[in-house]
Amino acid sequence: NLPARVRIHEVGPRDGLQNEKTVVPTGVKAEFIHRLAAAGLRTVEATSFVHPRWVPQLADAEDLFPRLAGLTDTALPVLVPNEKGLERALALGARRIAVFGSATETFAKRNLNRTVDESLAMFAPVVSRARAEGVHVRGYLSMCFGDPWEGPVPVDQAVEAARRLYGLGCDELSLGDTIGTGTPGQVRALLTGVTGAGVPLSALGVHFHDTYGQALANTLAALECGVTTVDASAGGLGGCPYARSATGNLATEDLVWMLDGLGIETGVDLGGLIATSVWLAGRLGRPSPSRTVRALSHK
Ligand code: HMG
Ligand code: MG
Repeated sequence: NLPARVRIHEVGPRDGLQNEKTVVPTGVKAEFIHRLAAAGLRTVEATSFVHPRWVPQLADAEDLFPRLAGLTDTALPVLVPNEKGLERALALGARRIAVFGSATETFAKRNLNRTVDESLAMFAPVVSRARAEGVHVRGYLSMCFGDPWEGPVPVDQAVEAARRLYGLGCDELSLGDTIGTGTPGQVRALLTGVTGAGVPLSALGVHFHDTYGQALANTLAALECGVTTVDASAGGLGGCPYARSATGNLATEDLVWMLDGLGIETGVDLGGLIATSVWLAGRLGRPSPSRTVRALSHK
C-alpha cells in the first residue's frame, strides 16, 4: 500500500547550506535553486528570515529571494521564526512560510531562545497573519525521537507537541528527526499517535537526517503509513547549527533512487539532480556524502 506519487520538499538551499561554515556567494545559492527547479523539484525551501547573527550563512535572504522571481512553477517556502521574520518575508512577496518548533525544552531554548510555550506564543500571531494573507504555513517539529541534551524523546511528548503546533492553524506539519536517531518502529508509533491526535495524513511530512543511516528505512516506514510528503536535501547536505550531532539530511538523490525503483512518481530527473550536486560540491570544495551521487558520478 505505497503511494503512487510523492511530493519531495527540497531543503538543500536552507537546511543544507545553513550549516556551511564558509559563506556561499548569493549567486551560487540562486543558481543552485534554479538548477534544482530545472531538475523537476517543485518545492524548494529557499532561505530563512531569522536573525542574521544566529545563522550568518542565510543573512543574504533579502538579496537572494528576488533573484528567484522567475521560478513561477516552483513553490519557494522560507523559514520565519517570528513577526519580524514574517514582515521581511512578506515584503519580498513570499507565499509560503515555515515556523519551526521543538518537541523538547532544551532545543527550543538553544534554537529559538524560548521555552516550548513561549515559542508557540511567538508563532501564533505569525501563523494567523500569514493565513489571513493567504500564505501557506508549514510547521516544523524538531527532536521528535531524540534530543542531544535530553536523550530519547517519549512518543507522547512528541505527539502532544505536534498537536499543539498544528493546532495554531498550520496547513502542513513536518515531523523532524533532527539528529537522526529514530528507527522505523518509532516512526510508525509517532505517525499513529499524531494522526490519532487529529492531524490528517495529507497534512503530514517527514524530515529525516541520516546521521545513523536510518533515513531511507524511516522514509519507507512513513510511506507505508500513508505519508506522501518527504523532505530531502540535494547531495545530503545539511545539519542544524544549534543541534549538536545533527549531520546531513536524507539525500534527495538517495530518495529518488528508492522511489524510482518502487515505481513511485516524483517528477524529478535524477541525472539533472546529480549534476547539480556534483557542481555544488565543486563550489563547497568537498564531495557529496550521498551514496547515489557517488555511485553515479564515477561512471
Ligand atoms: P532573540 O535574541 O530572542 O530575539 O532571538 P529577540 O526577539 O529578543 O530580538 C532581538 C533582536 O533581534 C531585535 O533587534 C530584533 O529586531 C531582532 P534589536 O531591537 O535588538 O535591534 N530580530 C530579528 N532580526 C531579523 N530577523 C528576525 C529577527 N527576529 C528578531 N527574524 C530568534 C530569537 C528567534 C530571532 C533567534 O533565536 C533566531 O533567529 N533563531 C533561528 C535559529 C535557526 O534558524 N535555526 C535553524 C533552523 S531550525 C532547523 O534547522 C530544524 C529543521 O530543519 C527541522 C529539523 O531538522 O528538526 C527545521
Ligand atoms: Mg533539518
